[in-house]
Amino acid sequence: IRTQVGILGAGPAGLQLAHLLQRAGIDSVVIDGRSREDIEGTVKAGILEAPAVEVLVDTDVVTRDYVETMRHDGIEFHFDGHAHRFDFPALTGKGVYLYPQHEVLKDQIKARVAAGVTPLFEHLADKVVDGSNGPMIVGKNAQGEAFEISADFVIGADGSMSIAREYVTGNKFSGMAREYPFGWYGILVEAPPSSEELIYSRSEEGFVLISTRDEHIQRMYFQCDPNMDVNAVTDEQIWDKLQAGVSTHELKRGPIFRKDVLKFRSYVHDSLRKNKVFLMGDAAHTVPPTGAKGLNLAFSDVLWLNRALREYYRSGSEQFLDSYQEDALKRIWKATNYSYMMTTMLHIAPDATDFDKKRQVADLYSHTESLAGQTYIAEGYVGWDYSADD
Ligand code: DHB
Repeated sequence: IRTQVGILGAGPAGLQLAHLLQRAGIDSVVIDGRSREDIEGTVKAGILEAPAVEVLVDTDVVTRDYVETMRHDGIEFHFDGHAHRFDFPALTGKGVYLYPQHEVLKDQIKARVAAGVTPLFEHLADKVVDGSNGPMIVGKNAQGEAFEISADFVIGADGSMSIAREYVTGNKFSGMAREYPFGWYGILVEAPPSSEELIYSRSEEGFVLISTRDEHIQRMYFQCDPNMDVNAVTDEQIWDKLQAGVSTHELKRGPIFRKDVLKFRSYVHDSLRKNKVFLMGDAAHTVPPTGAKGLNLAFSDVLWLNRALREYYRSGSEQFLDSYQEDALKRIWKATNYSYMMTTMLHIAPDATDFDKKRQVADLYSHTESLAGQTYIAEGYVGWDYSADD
């Protein structure tokens, strides 16, 4: 197969880039080793930032009417016996959207299929190599048949286990990483919402997050040992742990139909390009889930690369391709910092001293009692405007 842009990974970043490029008349081929069912069935975070929603609406992936039904205008922090609400429109003029990220993915795949360019699922890439006519993706399909995609550019949007990263950095695992001594135990439960807005809670027991999917399905998490066995707790113990984080609401219980343990990691690659091969999204960086920045940050990379590739095909100028790494890394580090800050402010490390805990509560008061502190949290949460959004 010959194309202009070969995109590794049919996740939200790869699909959105393909969609934007097509609107500019640029051909691309998106491939993914997983099946469409696998991709659409993966459980993901629930929050979309306002600027990410604008991108989806502006490019006709979804309608404005549809997304407005999912708008949330605030979240609560619970700590030290206090509940503090962040009023997003008052603080920032914007809201966020409880638009579950696997639903985003389904809508993006639908848009690709409607445009007549279905991603190539079950095409497992093995590596990226230099071909005689630009970079090449080589791999095997579900039948075990070899395939090659030869392109002007290859984009690695293939997640934290990226194979494109090996081409770019010469090493699958280099980069800057931060480990965390805790993770999340997450459940999906069949029950009505327990709270109208999301609750982020920090108590002596640790972190709890009460989120939602819709009127019938709820998503909740509690802080856990990242190595714990998902079957090590009973449903009763799960409810006790969740309820311990929220004294203001009686959690509405129901059948728990999915349980998972999420490991946390911060990870940033500062080398995002080699020759005509670029990295974006989780292939380039990973954030811990607190604040749900992952997909939203990936969209920033998408917009930078979209601008760069469009300019290249329009005028032949490589100016924005050359500046991609520097352009993208600024927001990557801001989101990395924000996710780190939200995570460390709300979780209790197993080795936390009394000093650490008192300081943490003071930090929470500093971010909730003053308008400046509230605005800082709210601006990061609803999402900074994308700089490359043209
Ligand atoms: C969800 C996940 C998050 O990481 C977050 O900050 C908010 C919501 C969720 O899965 O609903």
